[in-house]
Amino acid sequence: MEPVRLPVFVVFFLSTHSALGSYPVAQNVTWKSTNFKTILTWGPEPSANYSYTVEFSPLGGNKQRSPHCIRSSRAMCDLSNYLTDLQASYTADVLSEPPLGARTELTEFPHTTSPRFCPYKDTDISSPEFKLEVSEDKKKTTLYVTDPLTALFKNGHQLNIRDIFSDQLQYKVIYRKNKSTGKKEYKSKTNVIELPDLDQGVSYCFSVQAYIPSRSIDKQLGELSQTQCSNDDNQSIFEVYSVGVIAAAIFLILLLIGIIIAVTVVCYTYRKKALKKEKEAMPLRDRV
Ligand SMILES: *[C@@H]1O[C@H](CO)[C@@H](O)[C@H](O)[C@H]1NC(C)=O
Ligand SMILES: *[C@@H]1O[C@H](CO)[C@@H](O)[C@H](O)[C@H]1NC(C)=O
Ligand SMILES: *[C@@H]1O[C@H](CO)[C@@H](O)[C@H](O)[C@H]1NC(C)=O
Repeated sequence: MEPVRLPVFVVFFLSTHSALGSYPVAQNVTWKSTNFKTILTWGPEPSANYSYTVEFSPLGGNKQRSPHCIRSSRAMCDLSNYLTDLQASYTADVLSEPPLGARTELTEFPHTTSPRFCPYKDTDISSPEFKLEVSEDKKKTTLYVTDPLTALFKNGHQLNIRDIFSDQLQYKVIYRKNKSTGKKEYKSKTNVIELPDLDQGVSYCFSVQAYIPSRSIDKQLGELSQTQCSNDDNQSIFEVYSVGVIAAAIFLILLLIGIIIAVTVVCYTYRKKALKKEKEAMPLRDRV
């Protein structure tokens, strides 16, 4: 019995394996996700004689496919609209298969499994935009932060990160005096952030990032925004000097200009007269 069964198994194994071996297996299967725009990427780009199919499933759930990623000739798959349970932990298999339309007897294809990915916990958050406002009396500095938009829609309405994270979402402000490098931080649960304890009339520089403390440490912070600085105490000239003083200054300037013109004219006429006199005083023979 033994000598007969072994070769059969070996032949079967070898035939499957050589066929499998001709399709390169996907490498470096990676989730790239920002604001719930989630793309699975891998390599190498397929040649004309094979393709990739992606199968994904939430932990303990059924395998699903995106129609765009069946026998596809691209080394990426956009799964943003398919990972519908944001809290679930997904894995995906990238299968190397024959090209679209090609027939095959094989039912098993080589595949590579992705790392786990949970949209809610793992998607990166892009940098927010914010508006900086210093009150007229310079006592209050307020930042108005705009929540970044996500790739998700609900009833035709594009959701922002606050729609998804609600009170789990905070913003971290990093600020410093413009002329110093010492940084301070301020965390806020709201999008309108009034900063306390700033020195009045001093220029500060601010940047903002999303902060989700419920996430694992390495995923808590979003991308840092651009830096914006408040102005120095450059009160407008009208605030510093009264209208009377400004009027007097303008009058003085005009007066000065007038004097300069008058002096120039007088000098010029005087010089002309002097020249004329000089000429008349000269003897005739010298003029020829
Ligand atoms: C696919 O084409 C490459 C060369 O471009 C070849 O080496 C490989 O064996 C082919 N694989 C299959 C399954 O035909
Ligand atoms: C996978 O990543 C390694 C290291 O970054 C790289 O050398 C290799 O070329 C990648 N493979 C593919 C198929 O992209
Ligand atoms: C802040 O400092 C930078 C140089 O460090 C300067 O270019 C900028 O004008 C300053 N902004 C204000 C509002 O003072």
